[in-house]
Amino acid sequence: MKVLIVGGGGREHALAWAIAKSPRVEGIVCAPGNGGIAEIAACVDIKATDVEGMVAYAVQERFDLVVVAPDDPLALGMVDAMEAAGLRAFGPRQSAAVIEASKTFAKDLMKRHGIPTADYAAFDEINGALHYVEHCAIPVVVKADGLALGKGVFICYTRADAREAVRAIMQENRFGAAGQRVVIEECLEGPEVSVLAFTDGKTLVPLPSAQDHKRIFDGNRGPNTGGMGAIAPSPKYTPELAAIVERTIMEPTIRAMEAEGRRFQGVLYFGLMLTKDGPKVLEYNARFGDPETQAVLMLMESDIVEAFEAVIDRTLDRADIRFSNDAAVCVVMASGGYPGAYESDKPIQGLDGATACGATVFHAGTKRDGNAIVTAGGRVLGVSAKGKDLESALQKAYDACACIRFEGAFYRKDIGRV
Ligand code: AMP
Ligand code: GLY
Repeated sequence: MKVLIVGGGGREHALAWAIAKSPRVEGIVCAPGNGGIAEIAACVDIKATDVEGMVAYAVQERFDLVVVAPDDPLALGMVDAMEAAGLRAFGPRQSAAVIEASKTFAKDLMKRHGIPTADYAAFDEINGALHYVEHCAIPVVVKADGLALGKGVFICYTRADAREAVRAIMQENRFGAAGQRVVIEECLEGPEVSVLAFTDGKTLVPLPSAQDHKRIFDGNRGPNTGGMGAIAPSPKYTPELAAIVERTIMEPTIRAMEAEGRRFQGVLYFGLMLTKDGPKVLEYNARFGDPETQAVLMLMESDIVEAFEAVIDRTLDRADIRFSNDAAVCVVMASGGYPGAYESDKPIQGLDGATACGATVFHAGTKRDGNAIVTAGGRVLGVSAKGKDLESALQKAYDACACIRFEGAFYRKDIGRV
């Protein structure tokens, strides 16, 4: 089989690594890929959002399977376009990807179908939103409706902060078209858990749970990032809780999408908060999470290509999908200054030493420069490891991090401990 992976971050490197283990796969191409992916797949310089270019390339090269990993090509309908061209593509169609691309859609869906989530109001006009934050309960959460790289969410502890967030989204247009509408939500409290599930629209197969670490600094301080590390499974997600989530959240969500003519086929990400009133949905993503995938896929024991095909063929009820009971972690090494301004093109040393520690280093923002690998992004590497328990996985990953050097390298020292 020839497989095309669309995307070029740490998640896509982990997907390429998992797909490469399939005995059925002969060739992997990643577009656009990155410096690390280039070691296990051919990389082709086509933008992930270039739907037309990607489809033309996939048709020309006759791929047997296309895996569309990032949110924006899914929202742009890349899976629909691949299918229309006669290709087999893994990922939700545009009509289903809207569950991530529009927070208003997701909130309204949950309301219509009784799925537990924070109370909310949505506004497409700034005065209504500004008026609302003068009277609502504080703290309150203000979100841009559309895709904003995980940065369009403001937790506001004062009315002044809430006003400022509304203005940033709707007046300063800091998130472009994603901010034409704003969602204002009740602030929930509790530990957060991410759970991914393969679904073909009728059967659900949950993957091991995970915990992301979104803040830049130790102790969950500082601004939100794309994610500074992850552990899987989350010790807080007990089997009892998993049963409740499957019954009250996961099953109702895929039934609701099917009932509304938006069958979801792909991997659905449930961002959950475990509140004292039970688990509630913070957000849905229509794809694998980053960096959760870099931890969760370390635990997959069965062939991931079989899972993708079962989703496409709607035979998940018969598929062989297995995960180990071990623990896995991913520690993100970032460029100094991230999530603000940072410098690139810093040579990276010690990658072989890191691998010798038993870790798998997924590249997020790197590129090749002659024989060297240099930094090319805010999040640079996802240093991942598996162990019989969380402690031993953390030990391996942090030993590996200590081997890796590049100017300005920064990583959290408390992944899995908060
Ligand atoms: P989202 O992109 O919607 O998941 O939001 C990003 C982060 O903001 C989440 O992972 C939470 O930490 C936080 N967040 C989002 N919605 C809420 C909420 N209603 N209450 C408290 N925190 C929230
Ligand atoms: N880790 C959160 C996300 O992928 O959006």
